Amino acid sequence: MATSAAGPVLIVGSGLIGRSWAMLFASGGFRVKLFDIEQQQITNALENIRKDMKLLEQSSSLKGSLSAEQQLFLITGCSNIQEAVEGAIHIQECVPEDLELKKKVFAQLDGIIGDDVVLSSSTSCLLPSQLFAGLVHVKQCIVAHPVNPPYYVPLVELVPHPETGP
Ligand SMILES: NC(=O)c1ccc[n+]([C@@H]2O[C@H](COP(=O)([O-])OP(=O)(O)OC[C@H]3O[C@@H](n4cnc5c(N)ncnc54)[C@H](O)[C@@H]3O)[C@@H](O)[C@H]2O)c1
Repeated sequence: MATSAAGPVLIVGSGLIGRSWAMLFASGGFRVKLFDIEQQQITNALENIRKDMKLLEQSSSLKGSLSAEQQLFLITGCSNIQEAVEGAIHIQECVPEDLELKKKVFAQLDGIIGDDVVLSSSTSCLLPSQLFAGLVHVKQCIVAHPVNPPYYVPLVELVPHPETGP
């Protein structure tokens, strides 16, 4: 397990998949920032995650070695994308399955990230060659498509762009 100093991991899109990724990363001891364009989605996500983690703990099904409170402490909401990307070691995009929207989100991230962070998409069926075409940081891009729900099913399909670094 990573230490509580690990991360942060940035989740872009706090819907069904984003929330589940957030719980999974926190279970590994990573700090997690949850970003969304809808503040209410962030609020809902934090509430649902709290509820889910408490129930999981009660039924001894919580992942990782940290308590629910310790894991919850690692997850924070953020509504400013500039602040959200600061120091991130991994960005997991979880916005709706729409090529133009995802391309817009990746273009925005491409302009503000550094050269070390992994830029990863949860897309179910969009091609990495289309998603990441023309990005300056294309070597850092990959599709990491989780089986739903990511928290419960430990299976992620990794699909690189032809230019993704090893
Ligand atoms: N639902 C599944 O079974 C499943 C499984 C694996 C992968 N996926 C993939 O995961 C991705 C997300 O799916 P979901 O079911 O969580 O969708 P969702 O609709 O539940 O959540 C999407 C979230 O993205 C937010 N959003 C929209 N535009 C945004 C922007 N520009 N910046 C930041 N946030 C934005 C929305 O407010 C919403 O909270 C999709 O690509 C989907 O194909 C889904």
